[in-house]
Amino acid sequence: MSTLEDLPRDAEAAFAAVDNLPALDQAKARFLGKTGLITEQMKGLGKMDAEGRKAAGARINQIKDQVEASLKARREAIEAETLRRQLAAEALDVTLPGRGETMGGLHPVTRTLARIERMFASMGFEVADGPEIETDFYNFTALNIPDNHPARAMHDTFYLPGGHLLRTHTSPVQVHYMQRQQPPIKIIAPGRVYRCDSDVTHTPMFHQVEGLWVDETVSFADLKGVLADFMRHFFERDHMPVRFRPSFFPFTEPSAEMDIGCVICGGDGCRVCSHTGWLEVLGCGMVHPNVFGHVGYDAEKWQGFAFGLGVERLAMLRYGVDDLRLFFENDVRFLKQFA
Ligand code: DAH
Repeated sequence: MSTLEDLPRDAEAAFAAVDNLPALDQAKARFLGKTGLITEQMKGLGKMDAEGRKAAGARINQIKDQVEASLKARREAIEAETLRRQLAAEALDVTLPGRGETMGGLHPVTRTLARIERMFASMGFEVADGPEIETDFYNFTALNIPDNHPARAMHDTFYLPGGHLLRTHTSPVQVHYMQRQQPPIKIIAPGRVYRCDSDVTHTPMFHQVEGLWVDETVSFADLKGVLADFMRHFFERDHMPVRFRPSFFPFTEPSAEMDIGCVICGGDGCRVCSHTGWLEVLGCGMVHPNVFGHVGYDAEKWQGFAFGLGVERLAMLRYGVDDLRLFFENDVRFLKQFA
């Protein structure tokens, strides 16, 4: 057992032997705690006479002060060391070179939309906009697709509560625009459309561009000229065979589907064109008089053409992408190639 005079040295050694505050507190308890060595010394005073108690008490207090002083010094040293270590561990080397920044790029569908808009703008078409949440009237009825018309079933519509639906095509923008504006009008309406359909060649959301040109003398010849010109510019071909096959859409009469010579094989026949040499690229036709009727246009005075094309389809053909889903998975390795 240590004697009183050994205590300052023993305490200092005990404090020096620890390097963290919890351990220092334990060491402190051994000397200064309720049952610590210094307290034990105090208890011994009771057995002494008055003279001896006074002298010994004073000495014990001196020793206690010394032990407390070395405790304090050690506590400060440990705190300083802890802080130093923390600062060293969290230090930032501001002289390190930066990691470099990579430039983002526009999504291929966005690029294609911009390209289509630019080309039609150069032919005098303005861009019009419409809601993605539609009513039955705009998506169907006003486009000459009455209740119970079989064309409604073909649209795989997402219905919303309250008689609303997600537009299945951009054609309803025609109706909104004609309700607001008197002819002549010459617009395209790019945007998202929705169909309850999902497989290799269909996604529930995709993009279309609708076109509408109405004036007193706009004819099917104008339709052919504008669309053939557009396709040649879009695919950057001087010569590109096009053909118009008779088709049916309730909102146009006559209606046609437009094909272009296959841009993959040049018309020889390949997997993409199903060995026909032709690619179907859009639907079109002369605006049906009933559509004019729904928006209050005089069908005797005005005539025009409309068309609707799929943006992803054109993007796939232009960039040689063979899986539609790649556009929506947003894998950076895919997107980077268009940056
Ligand atoms: N709305 C049609 C669809 O989504 C595409 C279409 C065909 C639009 C002919 C037109 C048109 O304006 O005249 O399949």
